[in-house]
Amino acid sequence: MILAPRKREQVMPLPVVLISTVGKDGVRNIAPWSCITPILRPFDDLVLASWIKRDTLNNIRETGEFVVNVPPVNLVEAVMICSKNYPPEVDEFKESGLKPRPSQKVKAPGIEGCLAWVECTLVEEISRKNYSLVIGKVVHLEADDRFFNEAGEMDYERAKPLSVMLGDHGMWFTRPVFAGRYADYAEMFLSKKDEAPAFTGENG
Ligand SMILES: Cc1cc2nc3c(=O)[nH]c(=O)nc-3n(C[C@H](O)[C@H](O)[C@H](O)COP(=O)(O)O)c2cc1C
Repeated sequence: MILAPRKREQVMPLPVVLISTVGKDGVRNIAPWSCITPILRPFDDLVLASWIKRDTLNNIRETGEFVVNVPPVNLVEAVMICSKNYPPEVDEFKESGLKPRPSQKVKAPGIEGCLAWVECTLVEEISRKNYSLVIGKVVHLEADDRFFNEAGEMDYERAKPLSVMLGDHGMWFTRPVFAGRYADYAEMFLSKKDEAPAFTGENG
């Protein structure tokens, strides 16, 4: 089956996060986001792609800050409320009923009931005609320890982080499940000396 190039997102499972921001006038905003990724292990940066007309993008430009909140599947209805194209003066915490959670390093609040909170500051915006790439630096990262195991890793079967597969006319909300195979990072290298610090975490 051959698909149009613009359908590339329909063949890739995507995460769903909620980005919370505050405008310079103090209005709180929340928007769901799927085009977001860390920039390699073990660095502190991440990048998100934003359509040019987004209150989220304007707020990040105005304040230089944002919070990436990781919602569990049970927040999916609130996710869809926050996806609506409210005008910038609408407080999306009030609209969605989601409760703010004080952040440690940025003014924008996080969202109660999420699994993790990634506080970021703006590093660089790469502008194109229709979209922008926003590079952020993670300045504070916190997670709900109820969903972490003794090894300090997220128990995703209990946490149920939200993800999504996109279709022609809508979104199929999903969540990660174990595929039956664990692999140590060391398995990627033919010999110990090949192991790059980026994968072993030795430089961070
Ligand atoms: C699951 C999901 C993922 C989304 N991912 C993105 C994205 O990666 N980039 C983007 O610009 N808009 C994305 N959107 C659309 C915005 O969330 C939506 O347009 C929202 O109203 C923007 O709000 P804002 O104008 O308050 O920033 C997504 C929507 C949903 C439901």
